[in-house]
Amino acid sequence: MRKPLVAGNWKMNGSSAHNNALLDGILSQVDTFPSIDVALFPPAVYLQQVQQRLEGSVIEWGTQNVSSYPKGPFTGEISASMLNDFNCNYVLIGHSERRCLYDEVDLDLSVLDRIIAEKYAMAVDKGVTPIICIGETPAEHEANKTEEIIIGHLDTIIKHQGIKPLSQTVLAYEPVWAIGTGLSATPEWAQEVHQLMRERIASHDKHIAENIRILYGGSVKGNNARPLFSMPDVDGGLIGGASLSADEFVTICQAAEQQV
Ligand code: PGA
Repeated sequence: MRKPLVAGNWKMNGSSAHNNALLDGILSQVDTFPSIDVALFPPAVYLQQVQQRLEGSVIEWGTQNVSSYPKGPFTGEISASMLNDFNCNYVLIGHSERRCLYDEVDLDLSVLDRIIAEKYAMAVDKGVTPIICIGETPAEHEANKTEEIIIGHLDTIIKHQGIKPLSQTVLAYEPVWAIGTGLSATPEWAQEVHQLMRERIASHDKHIAENIRILYGGSVKGNNARPLFSMPDVDGGLIGGASLSADEFVTICQAAEQQV
């Protein structure tokens, strides 16, 4: 049985005061979702604040990105060993908003996937669980290329790093057309893609496929989380906008709790 995970990606939102109020709201209701894993991803400058507030609670934390290099002249980047310094359990890798930023400097997709695979290796090496995000763009979706794109991303990751590290990894299916648009994928659509991902992994290693958690992300809210999480291959969610409201986020955590 896979334990559901609800991950809250704050993106570039928050302030010390807002974070404290948000954490107060979530921590006061933590008893209502005792059987699931929950992790929060603040902007890196608030990592220490979040760590201090969450240490000793059941909620974990991580960062929204990590460098593919161990250290050196990479202005603005954060290394995997720095994540260890703040006891981060998780790191988001390959979020579509990051992929878009790289696209602007004209990297082709295979180069991008290689960088993502290197970041992934870096996180695994430091014992930080990567949450690798993959998903098709609106244009790819309309051209019925979802399967090809998803399989392509997965195969690149497996080609670069082998199948083994997936045993310490979380995957997130995040269709780009659903992120921040209010247009969530239907539960049936999410299930179909998650099943495809699991089957692809099973073709390499059945045990890893059965145990790996695959989250759905893209306009998950308090009012649509339950049907999404009730799908057999959806093991929780990666939540953006709705993670900025304590009540909304807690409702989503409770929807995951109901699946246990
Ligand atoms: P959203 O973002 O929930 O605001 O759609 C999801 C994500 O980007 O992970």
